[in-house]
Amino acid sequence: PAPDLEVLKKAAGVRAAALVESGMRVGLGTGSTAKYAIEEIGRRLGAGELSGVVGVATSEASDALARAVGIPVEPLDPRPLDLAIDGADEITPGLDLIKGLGGALLREKLTEVQARRLVIIADHTKLVTRLGEKAPLPVEIARFGFLSTIERLRALGLGGRLRQPGAQPYLTDNGNYIFDAQLPEQFDPAELGDRIKGTLGVVETGLFLGMAERAFVAAPDGVRKLTP
Ligand code: A5P
Repeated sequence: PAPDLEVLKKAAGVRAAALVESGMRVGLGTGSTAKYAIEEIGRRLGAGELSGVVGVATSEASDALARAVGIPVEPLDPRPLDLAIDGADEITPGLDLIKGLGGALLREKLTEVQARRLVIIADHTKLVTRLGEKAPLPVEIARFGFLSTIERLRALGLGGRLRQPGAQPYLTDNGNYIFDAQLPEQFDPAELGDRIKGTLGVVETGLFLGMAERAFVAAPDGVRKLTP
């Protein structure tokens, strides 16, 4: 039988955590795959394989998990990070990404843009041939005037909806809302990203273009290393 997705996510996470060396400052991603990398870094620290590692967390959840597994956590400051490890929602062959289904896209981008190497970890279900194939594009928007912002996004030709899992809209760690945009069949990611980012009320998008240095993608037959 095929290994379940959790086994694959863990395999990718452990593979990326092996890149961490003593003394590194490491960006810690968010989500169900990044969780395994954080746990493995904590395990390696606890086992004495590593020392002096500092984590910079991309969400409140990853901050709490990192501390729980014994990784010292510091806030983001302007110094570069040696490495960042994170999951993704979609990965193209060129390693362009959609991120943010877990809601942490703003802190992820703020953190990972400062990393000398961004290593993406995922199971094979995240591979796509074009962005928007399977996932919506999460767009973080200000709460104030959000209905007007959504109208402006619709005027760009974007379908989609405000993320609202229950009675209230989903709230990010930064106190903003998320519009999950349906991408058109054909578009230029950089150009559309710029247009969305230039829309009044938009804080950030989950398009991560040209940022990943490599990806470890786990499939039932093993973990593959992909480069752009
Ligand atoms: C969090 O905001 C996202 O960018 C995650 O990195 C992404 O959703 C991947 O999460 P999973 O590993 O849980 O699929």
